[in-house]
Amino acid sequence: MHDPRPTAGIGLHGLSKSYGGAPVIPGLDAELRAGEFTVILGPSGCGKSTLLNCIAGLERISAGRITIGGREVQEDEPKDRRLAMVFQSYALYPHMTVAENIGYALKVARVPRAERMARIAAAAKLVELGDYLGRRPAALSGGQRQRVAIARAVVREPEVLLYDEPLSNLDAKLRQDMRMELARLHRRIGATSVFVTHDQVEAMTMADRIMVLNKGRIEQFDTPEAIYHRPASTFVAGFIGSPAMKEMTAGRRAPDGGRWPAAPAAICWPRGKAMTASTAASATTS
Ligand SMILES: Nc1ncnc2c1ncn2[C@@H]1O[C@H](COP(=O)(O)OP(=O)(O)OP(=O)(O)O)[C@@H](O)[C@H]1O
Ligand SMILES: [Mg+2]
Repeated sequence: MHDPRPTAGIGLHGLSKSYGGAPVIPGLDAELRAGEFTVILGPSGCGKSTLLNCIAGLERISAGRITIGGREVQEDEPKDRRLAMVFQSYALYPHMTVAENIGYALKVARVPRAERMARIAAAAKLVELGDYLGRRPAALSGGQRQRVAIARAVVREPEVLLYDEPLSNLDAKLRQDMRMELARLHRRIGATSVFVTHDQVEAMTMADRIMVLNKGRIEQFDTPEAIYHRPASTFVAGFIGSPAMKEMTAGRRAPDGGRWPAAPAAICWPRGKAMTASTAASATTS
């Protein structure tokens, strides 16, 4: 279980999703590489959960194709897509122990007891809950409960792990710890992971690549470094927030002493710093 497992890339081809004729995702193309940790980032209502649910098979797509490991899955039931999902509200069974919660899906799938126990123990160890297997959820902290929910997904040994804002209910310190734990977990199991959040810091610290969504369209899909330093649009720059981006019109003196035609330019500089001649000179333009 600690060996990296086979992973599968995800292909989104002309994916569109409408509710009652209203398009939420008007047509989206992207390749999420095998083993990559992708963060889907965007404001509330931009279609993040809808896109994730389409990949999971919890929502039927209106048009297009979804591939996982090169295989078309848009007609498949969620259980046949070799993926597991972790939600914001982790809803553990209160009457079951940690071990029973983690192993429930394996029991339903009639995995033999000995194998089930071994996989539960390995998954619990991955999220550092090995000493808590006999506890019930009421006797766990919020972070521990969320880790049970993650172990419950990991124990199924999915090729793809989907997370929908799994850390939103945790306090700031716990969120920070869990981000690091999830990053470590990802390095250990290597499953292709898709993580939805509207938290820029979460995206910047966890992602191999960030897909910035705005009204169901991809504004930019690139590394945190590229998104931070080379935002593709004012929306991306504004949403990433720091460095703050201001739009202004700039003109330059032409060699003959006249002026070049004014052109809009976006200038970034660190938030909280006054715009002075020296900060302006060191600011990046795009
Ligand atoms: N079952 C549904 N029926 C009709 N409209 C829906 C349905 N589910 C979502 N929507 C609409 O689709 C849009 C995208 O919703 P979605 O839940 O994907 O947003 P989100 O980016 O996950 O937002 P948040 O950050 O608030 O979770 C919203 O305008 C929402 O009202
Ligand atoms: Mg959502």
